[in-house]
Order: sequence, then C-alpha cells, then structure tokens
Amino acid sequence: AVSLKGRDFLTIHDWTREELTQVLDTADLLKLRQKAGLRDRPLEGRSVGLIFTKPSTRTRVSFEVGVYQLGAQPIYLSGADMQLRRGETLADTARTLSRYLDGIMIRTFAHADVEELARYADIPVINGLTDWQHPCQVMGDLMTIREKRGRLDGIHLAYVGAGNNMAHSLLEGGAKFGMRVTVAYPPEYPPDPVVVERAKADAARSGGSVELFPGDPEAAVAGADVVYTDVWASMGEEAQAEERARRMQAFRVTPALMARAKPDALFMHCLPAHRGEEVVDEVIDGPWSVVWDEAENRLHVQKAIMALVIA
Ligand code: CP
Ligand code: NVA
Repeated sequence: AVSLKGRDFLTIHDWTREELTQVLDTADLLKLRQKAGLRDRPLEGRSVGLIFTKPSTRTRVSFEVGVYQLGAQPIYLSGADMQLRRGETLADTARTLSRYLDGIMIRTFAHADVEELARYADIPVINGLTDWQHPCQVMGDLMTIREKRGRLDGIHLAYVGAGNNMAHSLLEGGAKFGMRVTVAYPPEYPPDPVVVERAKADAARSGGSVELFPGDPEAAVAGADVVYTDVWASMGEEAQAEERARRMQAFRVTPALMARAKPDALFMHCLPAHRGEEVVDEVIDGPWSVVWDEAENRLHVQKAIMALVIA
C-alpha cells in the first residue's frame, strides 16, 4: 500500500485508483471492526478542525463522531464565528490552524477557497463539499455500491439532476473505477465541461465510460444498476429555487423512471432529500432505496481518509 500521510483530499480526480481503493478497503475494515465492538484509536491525542460556512447534518455529525471514534478531538468551527468573516485571510487562517491542529475539514462555497486553504496549511485538508465537488460523499457512495454489488467495474450509474457538485464528483469517481456513468440534466444546468473531459480521460484508462443525456432522464436511466439524484437547488442557489424547479419537473425520480433501470436497481441520494421534488416517497422509502446505508458509510469512509492522511 502507498502512504497517503500528509495528503490533501480535495477532489477524487486528484487521487489514483489505487489510492482510492485503499480508502475503500480501509473503510470496509474500520466498519467491520466497529461492528465487532473493537475500538481502534489511531489518532489518539490529535485534533481535527471542522470548518463550515454552509449548513450540514450528515457531514458535521459523521466527521465529529468519526474524529472522536479515531481517538482525536473534533473542533467545530463555524465560519460565521471565525475571524475569517472579519477579513482575516484564508492563508493566515491556514498558517495559524496548522500550529494547533493535525488536520482540517472544510465545507464552503468556492472550491478555490479550499485550494487556497490547502496551499497555505502544513496539515492535510479534506473537502467536505464545495460548490464544485463533494468527494467524501462519493467515496461513501462507492463504498455502498461495492457493498451491495460486490464490485464497481462495469456498474452503470445514472445521475438524474443538475450538473452540480454531486454530478461532478460522481463523474470523477465512476470514471476512476471503470464504471459507466450516464448523466441526464436540464440543458440550462450542464455539468462543468472541465470535469466531463477529465472524467472521460480517466474512463478511457479504466475501461469505463461517460455519456451525457441533456434533457433525457429516460435514456440515461435505461438499464442502470444505480439511479442517483440530488436536490434541484443546492446550498447557495436558494434565490433560483423556483426557476430551477420549473425547469426540472421532468427530472423527478418516480417508480415509472425506476422501471426503466434494471429490476434490482439501487436508488441513491446524498441527502437531504426534497421529497416530492427530485424524488417521491415511493422511491426513497421503496425497495430500491439504500440511502440510509449510504449516509452511514460517510462515517466509515471519512474515518478511513482521516486515518490514512493524518496518522
Ligand atoms: N450529504 C451531505 O453532505 O449532507 P449534509 O449537507 O447534511 O452534510
Ligand atoms: N448539491 C447539494 C448537495 C448537498 C449534500 C448542495 O450542494 O447543496
């Protein structure tokens, strides 16, 4: 195994398939050991800062609990309460926090801010969601698919929704692992072409594929092993919520849409769900849904990432 000590985790694209596989294998092991009642504490005596400038339920709780379970101290840092808000630079914040902490997780708006924090921090920085990427979520998603299907290679994942952070990280994750990723989105909200191109390049190497279906959820979902969706308006897009909802009515995951996928297809959602918008109750509460296992796996996969980059 390669050493990941000291590495930042900002996007899935930044890491090799071997490195990402090591995260998934470690996460499986940590989950198994936790379920067996073992208490590993590889980060005993360390401290990890968790910076949030956006709301969170899953990310905050899974990171706080995960850091604690690894034997370290989590420190929740609300962006609104930090000197950042009064004009202290990200670079100076990074330099200061590096003198106290052993690692930083950050959730914020601009991806460039996370890159800047990582550039000036001497300690590992983990991306807990930006407007552009949500890599920890997708690592938990890949762990979940591997658990349910025994492999990632050749699995067809169809994403139905706006070309947002989830679409981008799913494209990058699927492409690394030889999956077939199909993406249906409203023409007004396409995925970033930079992400699509680099995912296509990775897919060509891994034996996977990336296909875009603007305006056509039925075509994207045909024969899929996994149907994935996300909210129509992301955090920070609240002002556009109505307009986006108007344009996305055809992107609702219903039993009829699920019927186009494989009979045993999985339904996945990063959560929080806006029930009745991007997904209906019959699907998220139905036989396809693995959303609670998916949410749980955030904990295990993030513990694996932290154990590998900080320990
Ligand atoms: N999926 C996810 O990141 O959820 P939170 O916004 O609740 O952290
Ligand atoms: N696309 C959503 C994901 C939330 C976990 C958002 O950015 O709000």
